[in-house]
Amino acid sequence: MRYDWIWSCPYDDEGWKVWMEDQIGKVALQTVWEQKVKDCTRCELSKTRTQIVYGIGQTEQPDFLFIGEGPGADEDRLGEPFVGAAGKLFDKILAALKLEREDIYICNVVSCRPPGNRDPKHAELVACAPVWTSQIVAVRPRMIIALGKIAGNVLLGTRAEAVAKMRKKVHAWNKIPLQVTYHPAGMLRNENYKQPAWEDLLNAQGYVAQIKAKALDSGPLFGGE
Ligand code: URA
Repeated sequence: MRYDWIWSCPYDDEGWKVWMEDQIGKVALQTVWEQKVKDCTRCELSKTRTQIVYGIGQTEQPDFLFIGEGPGADEDRLGEPFVGAAGKLFDKILAALKLEREDIYICNVVSCRPPGNRDPKHAELVACAPVWTSQIVAVRPRMIIALGKIAGNVLLGTRAEAVAKMRKKVHAWNKIPLQVTYHPAGMLRNENYKQPAWEDLLNAQGYVAQIKAKALDSGPLFGGE
């Protein structure tokens, strides 16, 4: 399954997988950061970055984990995901969904800025896969929202599917529901992406509401009489 592709990537070592299985939430993220990420030189982006942009937000089973492509110039300078022009639109979308940044988790498929905002190279995506994977495993979101073509393809283990196709159904990443939608930067370039993205996000909210309702509905914790 896709998971194997990620964990067997050439830059990975089994250690990541083994200890992630026992740890969740903030503690796990801090451990990953300290032991695996903060001095990372797994790919050439480490040579040109100002700083690594690690994920931020709610680390204890948020409803949504949003995953983007990679830091731009503002993120590289400030060390936080989605703080540039696309980030401002992202904040507006969150507000319209009645969500705060603190309610969700945000990360990227590469944690260092590709120079000149070029697309991440395959080797860079492979090198960084354990970083976002371990974040998802630690945070355990109810649903993953992949923003844009690159994040969508990386999570689906495909290469060049269009967002228009990927967004048509709720997929799963290791049993976690996964919705792909347009990237806010794409929406800034093309207004026509806004409406379908909005529909995707409303559907995603409905999907998570149903998951939560089912969990509540699954009967009393301690059986009847
Ligand atoms: N675009 C992304 O994909 N991620 C960021 O963090 C910022 C812009």
